[in-house]
Amino acid sequence: MNNLKSPESEKTSGLPSLIIRDANIWTKNDTTRGSILIEHGRIQKIARNITERADEEILANGLLVLPGLVDAHVHLRDMNLSYKEDFTTGTAAAAAGGFTSVIDMPNSLPPTDSAERLRERARRASGKILVNVGFHAAAVKDQDAANEMKSAGAFSMKLYLPNPIAPLDIDDDRVVVQVLDAAKQASLLLTVHAEDATKLPRTGEIKTFAELVRLRRGNAETSAVRRILRLQRRIGCRVHFCHVSLPSSLSAISNLSSSRLSSEVTPHHTLLSENHVMTLGWKAWMVPPLRSPKDTRKLFHAMKMGIPTIMATDHAPHTVKEKARLPRKSSPGIPGLETALSLMLTMVNNGKLSLGRLVSLLSNNPAKVFDLRSKGRLESGADGDLVLVDLKKRGTIDPEKFFSKAHYSPFEGWKTQGAVHTTIVNGLVVYRDGEIVAKPGGGKVLKSGRHE
Ligand code: DOR
Ligand code: ZN
Ligand code: ZN
Repeated sequence: MNNLKSPESEKTSGLPSLIIRDANIWTKNDTTRGSILIEHGRIQKIARNITERADEEILANGLLVLPGLVDAHVHLRDMNLSYKEDFTTGTAAAAAGGFTSVIDMPNSLPPTDSAERLRERARRASGKILVNVGFHAAAVKDQDAANEMKSAGAFSMKLYLPNPIAPLDIDDDRVVVQVLDAAKQASLLLTVHAEDATKLPRTGEIKTFAELVRLRRGNAETSAVRRILRLQRRIGCRVHFCHVSLPSSLSAISNLSSSRLSSEVTPHHTLLSENHVMTLGWKAWMVPPLRSPKDTRKLFHAMKMGIPTIMATDHAPHTVKEKARLPRKSSPGIPGLETALSLMLTMVNNGKLSLGRLVSLLSNNPAKVFDLRSKGRLESGADGDLVLVDLKKRGTIDPEKFFSKAHYSPFEGWKTQGAVHTTIVNGLVVYRDGEIVAKPGGGKVLKSGRHE
């Protein structure tokens, strides 16, 4: 019997049962041939042969099954930013990319800057989402507000150093210490966008995106990482560094080998460099920006060796109109949910990344860092969140086909090998062979600490 049943899974009973037969199943460090039975939204059994019958059966014919991917850093927009992306299009993009759970960033409109706003955003999302969605909240220094965010289920307080979401005098170390302390007392993780506002270019004419990127120097990241590490050591709260773009920042974090620190890299910073900005312009504009080819190579190597804790996409959709402006006016950010897995599977096929590392970075570790205890692994009792992958399938990245509202990508035209075949969320098939096959509403709103 399933001994991990929680009140939450009771709600999902009544769901059809599902068997995936004859798959190559990723369990811990390797694949084994077998079948998976999912009941009431949870994995009931993994065995060589399953004699039971289920409401739905998938003959996998040797497709690879991975634990559903967890993207801890996405911007789903919706509400007053629905024109950029909404909960349904953003989670459709997630499902198409093999992500079964995502955690949304608080720079929405209205921003997720209080427990009340987080609850309202969660209420709006439920019924519209195709994958599971959790929420980060804006960093605050007020202890009561932080405690309330924690109770509302926030996965972290996000400190956006260049321009805090909830107003904070961020240049003052005492204020940052108050934020770190509020996070610690509330047992909230602090996620940080580490770029020092005082080191960012403010004036002067910028004609090209290449110039814009070169002026947004790496020392803004280096100094912000150093500062947060220094203050974290004093307070001792848990800190997660988002989208680390420089190998030196990654080393500064990992050299401390602290269980209270974690780091994140993105597909774009590990695969693209500022050279791509010269040809792609706004399609390759995001912050932190792309770095030198040497930094990119080193960052990829560090990732391959397991130095960063997780990979996240920083899926940040904008309209073409908002991006294709003069460099200074262009909105930074690119969609990433629909390209990350096939790009990384291509690296696996090319012998540049191990499959084990890919699964750690995109599923096991984000589930651990963000305390999603029944996710990120394939075993009896875990949630029925899975992705079936065709490791051999070749393709070309075509943003026209994205489910996201943002139909552009710096990876447009890249040849890939390895593709998502089927995505299963809470035991329900959501995406199959290029199509969304479920109705919105099957995804659950995730709350931190509720051990979904
Ligand atoms: O490129 C980015 N886009 N970086 C951020 O930190 C924010 C994001 C967005 O929300 O568009
Ligand atoms: Zn950021
Ligand atoms: Zn972001």
